[in-house]
Amino acid sequence: MDMESESQQAGAQRVPRLLFISFFLSLSLSTLARAATRRHEWEISYQFKSPDCVRKLAATINGQSPGPTIRAAQGDTVVVSVKNSLLTENLALHWHGIRQIGTPWADGTEGVTQCPILPGETFTYAFAVDRPGTYIYHAHYGMQRSAGLYGMIVVAAAAPGAEPFAYDGEHLVLLNDWWHNSTYEQAAGLASVPFVWVGEPHSLLINGRGRFNCSAAVAGTCNATLPECAAEVFAVETGKTYRFRIASITSLSALNFEIEGHPMTVVEADGHYVKPFVVKNLNIYSGETYSVLITADQDPNRTYWLASNVVSRKPGTTTGTAILSYHGGGSSSPPPTTPPTGPAWNDTMYRFQQSVMTVAHPAHVEPPPAIADRAILLLNTQNKIDEHIRWALNNVSFTLPHTPYLVAMKRGLLGAFDQRPPPETYAHQGYDIYEKPPNPNATTSDALYRLRFGSVVDVVLQNANMLDANKSETHPWHLHGHDFWVLGYGIGRFDPAVHPASYNLKDPILKNTVAVHPYGWTALRFKADNPGVWAFHCHIEAHFFMGMGIVFEEGIERVADLPTEIMGCGKTKGGH
Ligand code: C2O
Ligand code: CU
Repeated sequence: MDMESESQQAGAQRVPRLLFISFFLSLSLSTLARAATRRHEWEISYQFKSPDCVRKLAATINGQSPGPTIRAAQGDTVVVSVKNSLLTENLALHWHGIRQIGTPWADGTEGVTQCPILPGETFTYAFAVDRPGTYIYHAHYGMQRSAGLYGMIVVAAAAPGAEPFAYDGEHLVLLNDWWHNSTYEQAAGLASVPFVWVGEPHSLLINGRGRFNCSAAVAGTCNATLPECAAEVFAVETGKTYRFRIASITSLSALNFEIEGHPMTVVEADGHYVKPFVVKNLNIYSGETYSVLITADQDPNRTYWLASNVVSRKPGTTTGTAILSYHGGGSSSPPPTTPPTGPAWNDTMYRFQQSVMTVAHPAHVEPPPAIADRAILLLNTQNKIDEHIRWALNNVSFTLPHTPYLVAMKRGLLGAFDQRPPPETYAHQGYDIYEKPPNPNATTSDALYRLRFGSVVDVVLQNANMLDANKSETHPWHLHGHDFWVLGYGIGRFDPAVHPASYNLKDPILKNTVAVHPYGWTALRFKADNPGVWAFHCHIEAHFFMGMGIVFEEGIERVADLPTEIMGCGKTKGGH
């Protein structure tokens, strides 16, 4: 059950349900501008779902996948009590893009900020949404996100007119990729020798709806007439301008999104206002969010496609579609055209240019510090460890410890993880990023990077060739607990003696997720000013599972007393 209530005590977590309902009923327009507590009660369970017309067990929130949209206004507190009814599976939920200032234990990152929520147990997340924008939530335990546990968070600006653009209506577009194979089957394949790869997605979903060709499905599992898999219809009225909030939560795919016949003006990225630019279609990577504006100025007597296509990997999946309708949603008949197929999947420069074009809105520039105190250069490679295929940073492949870092650091549980600091750089001089890794062997570690509180940190992510010749993929990197300035992108090998001179220090966009293009590099800067322990990883579910991530700690001594609810596993057993 979802409830919203106004509350004077933002921290209060256990108020009887009836009270919320009466608060909700008495909610009037005059109270809307005040900070409110948005309460949700979620039960997580497996249910049979047919998002692309093929029946499959999906992890659901109150019976839904995607889960309900969390709506709040800037300054509100969101409280979500999560009951794990998965019977035999642990759980953690992450609020992607929310910085968790003062509440690092509510980040929902299993192994980093909390012990998993055990079957049958309830855990309450409470955190402030301090910045307007478009965000996501999703499971953060193993590869659980790809089982269907995800949804959107929309934070409205506190004051009307505070945003540097105007619109008449709003739509939400949540993009995903989807497989009929279970998450367990996929994870077991990744960890097997020989490696078993699930392949390209069976379907691309828009707001949890897709369409698999039933004649290619196992007999009796597919039903193309189910309302559940009917394309979503987005209603518009002639002459009006619409904000589309677009988020990608894909497990694997980089996507290109297009609204047929309607150019999009990009105005927001990851909760920050963008210097507006117009695109025919938008490249969006897993973990990214954008807002675009479109004007309904086309022939209203027909419908138009919304289309999502795989880019950056050779596509093997039909275009994901939805319908734009000028008749208030009344006409949902398919458009008379074939759906847009997007740009060439391997046109890296096309995507690179859109990345470079995404800079801060002139009236909302937050200039980065001019210099960094520390620079970490991370070579992203595919490696082998005991015949297992892994991903590594500077030849170290990440594994999660069984004791969450947040607890281990706060309590000085030194035996909980590797205490040796991970490598700051790699032998970049003479390294040929276009060749297969010369020494594919890597080590595993659960060590973390300790950052001086308040210091300015640069991270440069260097992409390279994979184990197969002539192959380099796009990796969307996501940082928990912060936004970072995107200082620059390049194709080729990053040279610390040369490239920093070309950093954009004037109007870089702040983001929480950014693409590292094939054979390219991406340079970021952030301030280590949020006490806690924060994951930084590739947002491709399989890549993080295979070690493509690191963890930062900063200001642990400033973290308030930890709630005992995050404990109970590893060396935290026994509470204190
Ligand atoms: Cu959206 Cu650590 O992830
Ligand atoms: Cu990756």
